[in-house]
Amino acid sequence: MPNPVPCAIVIFGATGDLAQLKLIPAVYELCRERLVSDRFVLVGYARSTEKKDGTPLDDQQYRKDCYQAIKKHARRQPIDEAAWKRMEQNIFYLSGAYDSEEDHARLAAKLNEFDQTHDTGGNRLFYISTPPDAFEGIITCCGKRLTAPDRATGFQRIIIEKPFGHDLQSARRLNALLLKYFHETQIFRIDHYLGKETVQNLMVMRFANSIFEPIWNYKYVDHVQITVSETVSADDRAGYYDKSGATRDMIQNHLFQLMALVSMEPPAALDATSVRDEKVKVYKSVRPIRAGLVDSQAIRGQYGPGQYRDNSAAEGLPSPMKTTPGYLKARGVAPNSRTETFSAIKLFIDNWRWSGMPFYLRTGKCLPEKLSEIVVRFRSPPLTLFQKQCDSIYPNDLVIRVQPEEGISCRLNGKVPGGAMVIKSVALDFLYKTTFRTEPPEAYERLLYDALLGDQTLFIRGDEAEAAWQIIDPIEEAWAQSPNPVQQYAPNTWGPKAAMDLIELDGRRWLHSGDEPEPLIACSL
Ligand code: BG6
Repeated sequence: MPNPVPCAIVIFGATGDLAQLKLIPAVYELCRERLVSDRFVLVGYARSTEKKDGTPLDDQQYRKDCYQAIKKHARRQPIDEAAWKRMEQNIFYLSGAYDSEEDHARLAAKLNEFDQTHDTGGNRLFYISTPPDAFEGIITCCGKRLTAPDRATGFQRIIIEKPFGHDLQSARRLNALLLKYFHETQIFRIDHYLGKETVQNLMVMRFANSIFEPIWNYKYVDHVQITVSETVSADDRAGYYDKSGATRDMIQNHLFQLMALVSMEPPAALDATSVRDEKVKVYKSVRPIRAGLVDSQAIRGQYGPGQYRDNSAAEGLPSPMKTTPGYLKARGVAPNSRTETFSAIKLFIDNWRWSGMPFYLRTGKCLPEKLSEIVVRFRSPPLTLFQKQCDSIYPNDLVIRVQPEEGISCRLNGKVPGGAMVIKSVALDFLYKTTFRTEPPEAYERLLYDALLGDQTLFIRGDEAEAAWQIIDPIEEAWAQSPNPVQQYAPNTWGPKAAMDLIELDGRRWLHSGDEPEPLIACSL
């Protein structure tokens, strides 16, 4: 793997959850694998001058906090102390306002100093991992420094976390602001789903195997369903969540990315432009949902009071049940909030490949399982041959498991040995863990590494973000105007009844709806 060039990485929002849970551990894993240059510094930048308990925040304290974060959240435990030692001496902390040009000038002076002391070569990777209200200030201040007399001379890249806007208009504004200072090749809009190993494997599966392409179209595929379900509630994040909701928080980005990768045409090459061109074409081919159809094609739900599964326990340990007072009673949620914690949408991609064939997408909080998967369900064979022997034959499914238990499962039908003609659904399973005997890297490791190399393939392009909002906006607008209430669902269930109707009235079913026969595992790689 190419070794990235020397660089200063600046994390804005350095004391926040994302930095502590994901970004710092990801940088550590890259150090461990020697996938960052030895000539790098990591500067944590945040507003706080002290911790909640009053301890002053300085380089030493921030290093201690990073160490704790790594010990708790690094993918591989126990941690490699030698790798940590290499990283530790390169970590620094700076407190400042996000929108203050003076504070950014202090940051720039410090970074210039590191170019001398740590030989970072004038290269900068700015990572905006703050709440969205700080984006504008940071982009403007970082942008203005690009033309400052003491500007750095190496590459200047900016990674921006989601949410990328709130609707089409705000995404356009954000794009315009970024492009005022940066070139598109310097902008890395993140969707961490693209860093997940199975998501990258989607392209390999589709384009490095010849058996799928001939049947990868509406003639052979009955429908595609994409589920990203979570067991956690939104109770503790209502401040952000109530302004967003499941559709903006998950469908506009994570689920759309999965849909685009599963449905796009083969790109001309594997470079960022070719791959992203194909994804944009998918979004542009999605049939807009007309206001009159929103209630039947876009279902929103809100969890009520009850018990849900808390999956924060370590792997292998049982998930205890927790109680929620219901979304509307959570702290920070308006009592009459119509923000959805569940969303299920039926879409059509109007192109030659997928004409008339539905894509069902669903996501939600407080659902019975944490899983992300794509099911490509093929059309059933004609039943005539086995009609007398069995009522129905289970259709073939290709299940692409993004998480957990990353892998691919192909569901076939097989005859149960014996005199009678009994047909059973069997599965050919390919599991990453057992096949490659290794845990896939965390999404953020891959994405940070790519950003250090300047590879934008797994990042969202500006027009891509806008095209995705173009699909969501009419749905949100119709919902906002609809007199119909948001449907309630009990925690630990698969969402409101209307979400079942969305697919069942079409004569289909969600996988994991509780009444599907589990296949026999015929072969597990
Ligand atoms: C984030 C959303 O982008 O993705 C969260 O804001 C969600 O609401 C999270 O919980 C899910 O990510 P993952 O990797 O756990 O599926």
